[in-house]
Amino acid sequence: MFPDLNAFITELDRRKELARIAEPLSPNLEISAVIDQVSKSPGGGQGLLFEKPTGYDMPVAANLFGSESRMSLALGVEKLDDLATEIRELTTPAMPKGFMDALKMLPLANRLKDLMPKTVKDAPCQEIVQQGSAANLDAIPILTTWPEDGGPYITLPLVFTKDPETGMRNIGTYRMQVYDNKTTGMHWQRHKGGAQHHRVAERMGQRLEVAVALGPEPVLSYCATAPMPEGLDELMLAGVLGKRRVELVKCVTVDLQVPANAQIVLEGYVEPGERRREGPFGDHTGFYSLADDFPVFHLTCVTMRKKPIYLTTVVGIPPMEDLYLGKASERIFLPLIQKTLPEIVDMHFPAAGIFHNFVLISIDKRYPGHARKIMSAVWGLGQLMFSKCVVIVDKDVNVQDPAEVAWVVGTHVDPLRDVEITKGPVDDLDDAAVSPAYGGKMGVDATRKWASEGFSREWPKRLKMTESVAAKAAAVVSRLKR
Ligand SMILES: Cc1cc2nc3c(=O)[nH]c(=O)nc-3n(C[C@H](O)[C@H](O)[C@H](O)COP(=O)(O)O)c2cc1C
Repeated sequence: MFPDLNAFITELDRRKELARIAEPLSPNLEISAVIDQVSKSPGGGQGLLFEKPTGYDMPVAANLFGSESRMSLALGVEKLDDLATEIRELTTPAMPKGFMDALKMLPLANRLKDLMPKTVKDAPCQEIVQQGSAANLDAIPILTTWPEDGGPYITLPLVFTKDPETGMRNIGTYRMQVYDNKTTGMHWQRHKGGAQHHRVAERMGQRLEVAVALGPEPVLSYCATAPMPEGLDELMLAGVLGKRRVELVKCVTVDLQVPANAQIVLEGYVEPGERRREGPFGDHTGFYSLADDFPVFHLTCVTMRKKPIYLTTVVGIPPMEDLYLGKASERIFLPLIQKTLPEIVDMHFPAAGIFHNFVLISIDKRYPGHARKIMSAVWGLGQLMFSKCVVIVDKDVNVQDPAEVAWVVGTHVDPLRDVEITKGPVDDLDDAAVSPAYGGKMGVDATRKWASEGFSREWPKRLKMTESVAAKAAAVVSRLKR
């Protein structure tokens, strides 16, 4: 697995999956506009390396995870579907049938043992250390991505914090709006791990130390976006996926550890009680998120490699790079969700539905009201609680094909009977909700209705050609194609 971003870029070069752009382009909109257009090409376009951002010596890398093949490569699988198989195998060890069988399973036990990160002393990310007045953001070509943005934004940071009471670590990707060369916004939304640590620090009247890693080994860039349950370490997930222990190094000015192989690390703190206007920001919803008050990050130290690359992403009208990060979560978390909801056959967050705005789930329906049970479960499950519209279909419907789901919803649903409206927590980015972070949700039961659910008419049968006739027709059709 790739030990750092440089190794990943070398491999992308070798596979001709990277376009190097030598033409000088401005970090103010120009680079972003290229990223936007490339990521909209069929299949997600190439990874991009802007070698000469106007006014900076540091290259900018983007869209590196912006295709099925590159996201799979970063996570060490052939295709993203393999992630589900791998996680399923890891979390469902077969019972050994005898001594030899048990021996064969030893590698699995070793793998679980080897997940934990390890601490190293010398770290590439600390080749250069800038403290005091030398600690500033001036050398980093941070992009302004959309014309009406509140300023430049760091869009793919790994924000490290510790719970001040328990010492438990959290890593999340939360955008950071640059206010000046030493202060940024800290856009951890209220439901997220970083925000919880800040709440605890505020209750204790303490500063919260924060470290921000930019451009770590590729597997980690994904893990920081993964909806891990609170208290479960993202670095363990990185160990499972990356099949190697993540190397950490102690920060210089804060009591936190960061990935030793990152390109750049920003160290600093967030004060209790301090808030500042953040936004607007051209967001992954495809609209500008409204400005709101968020905590402020104060920079105390910058550490970096001698020749760092600034890794970033641009979000906007889908599809963009975050589609593939989200797809990885869909595949990785399916087998984990099936541990408590085994009747779920598959789930899909179509790109146009912005992850949790449309969640499509197929189930092996076993009892009356089953679809509604799944809706309730989803609305109570980690970040799936944000699901605004949940559509439940029977297991013979392919949820990976939204057109098939639309066909089934259009034909199977009586809105008077099959729509469940409720309310609860919604995504902070949902600007349509009745109030911030609190609003409505809709569940659509598009399964076949049973007599035990009060359906007394006959349910229509799906069209299907007789098998022998279909085979004969296929032979005729194949001759037509020649
Ligand atoms: C490109 C990108 C940018 C993101 N920006 C933010 C953000 O600004 N604020 C936020 O709360 N979540 C943001 N997220 C989502 C979080 O990273 C995600 O919910 C993650 O699970 C949070 O980790 P946590 O559960 O440890 O808090 C972003 C995700 C991606 C892929």
